[in-house]
Amino acid sequence: RRKEFRNLVSNLSSVPQNVITEQKKRVGQSPYRQQFHLESIMGQLNDPNGFSFFAGYYHLFYQSFPLKFTQNPTYFEQGWQHLKSRNLIDWQDLGQAMANDTKYDQYGVYSGSAIQANNRLFLMYTGNSWIGTNTPHWHRMPTQLGAWMDRNDCVTKLKSPLIKGRIKGYTGHFRDPKIFQKKGIYYAVIGAQKTNQKGTVLLYKSQDLLTWEKIGEVKTNFDKNMGYMCECPDYFELAHHGVLLFCPQGLNTKNNRFLNQYQACYSIGQPLNLNTGLFTGTEFNEIDQGFDFYAPQTMLTPDGRRVLIAWMSILNGNDPTVDYDYTGCLTFPRELTCDGKYLYQKPIDEIKDLAIAQLIAEKTVRQEKKIAEGRNQRDLKLTIKCGSKSIFVLDLFSDDKNSKHLRLILNAIKNRFIVNRANAGANFEDEYGTERSCAIDLSKKIQLRILQDTSSAEIFLENGKYVFTMRVFTSIEQNKIFVTSLNEATKIEYEINCLR
Ligand code: FRU
Repeated sequence: RRKEFRNLVSNLSSVPQNVITEQKKRVGQSPYRQQFHLESIMGQLNDPNGFSFFAGYYHLFYQSFPLKFTQNPTYFEQGWQHLKSRNLIDWQDLGQAMANDTKYDQYGVYSGSAIQANNRLFLMYTGNSWIGTNTPHWHRMPTQLGAWMDRNDCVTKLKSPLIKGRIKGYTGHFRDPKIFQKKGIYYAVIGAQKTNQKGTVLLYKSQDLLTWEKIGEVKTNFDKNMGYMCECPDYFELAHHGVLLFCPQGLNTKNNRFLNQYQACYSIGQPLNLNTGLFTGTEFNEIDQGFDFYAPQTMLTPDGRRVLIAWMSILNGNDPTVDYDYTGCLTFPRELTCDGKYLYQKPIDEIKDLAIAQLIAEKTVRQEKKIAEGRNQRDLKLTIKCGSKSIFVLDLFSDDKNSKHLRLILNAIKNRFIVNRANAGANFEDEYGTERSCAIDLSKKIQLRILQDTSSAEIFLENGKYVFTMRVFTSIEQNKIFVTSLNEATKIEYEINCLR
């Protein structure tokens, strides 16, 4: 592995205007631009960061590398781009909040989180740098850093690090602090790699946000099995349960699970012991079983809902939007609930504000039938009752002949839900497979909800107990929905909400 070290131009305002205009022009030519999902304005978007509510607004930052595709190796690496919103739907882009302009973060203002304190918003994040760059022993040097944002959205970085450097027993992979508060004390979970190359989550605490003390590793009964690195951890309490989120890298595929390159997982248990780091949680599950989901982050809304947003991708820039000099978008925000064993996700209720037309219908499905066409911005709710031998097929993003589509299958013989994107359009990342599935009892009525946008589908099955999130890159005529039922009829009731 070779790394090129260079002096980076970190401030967007010092980049020639024509470079930016050219980038934006390329982006504007893309047929894949989303309508109601947040996506990269140019270059790369990856993790959501600093998701919070402060001074009457929701704030959301994301990892942004706006000039990644200009081929100029001196343009800066990841910084934080800042958005704010009154309703989690309509967002205002406030531009770059933090650039990689200090010695601690010169190779990336990496992921982190935010918490309100004393009438300001505190940001905690990881600065990425490299040391020994002129020697064969160069290595990564992480620093946990802080910044304050005032009520005018002005961000000022702190000069002194919060947690300096590598720490004993762990490698340079030490990043992505997520802050939370309990009983007046601040805590942070931070992703880390032990010197034995195992992934873990470290727990820290602080009285004042400025001095941090290590409590230790989050100890679970699966902590030897968290891959070679855990990125982007999160911890919160929901309905008196403790919920730990983390993104293990390097898990082996197991019983049709962990098929993506990296995973985003959760475990539910007793609240985390904040003195010892002990967490007695369930065996971990994937948060989302689709192809494109990573680095989720949650926040608590003023009315007490736990809302999650994630990067709708896993790899950096491998999809067809790269041809238009951008990549990356975020999921639609999801409200989480929990029954002690599983996490349930649903699109936040604010989605109602996006609806512009509605169709409600029911059908007994046999032969192939078109049930919708027109724009692909939809919130589709279906109740499905299969016959005992039904194989019900729902094709989204279909062309006129339904020869191209994103195919969903409910197979009552095998009691399986399957989503197949092999034939959905411009293929990408097929090396990780083109099908995802889960077991489901199809002798009962099934609830299915699907959010479609120009180039994505988020599929919520059984009230969001299973979610499958994915990008699809289709041609312009793929804007229909078809249904078919093989062997036996399937009864469906559906509601199609067309979204702006
Ligand atoms: C996850 C991640 C984080 C890191 C950030 C850098 O996608 O690798 O661990 O902070 O992206 O952009």
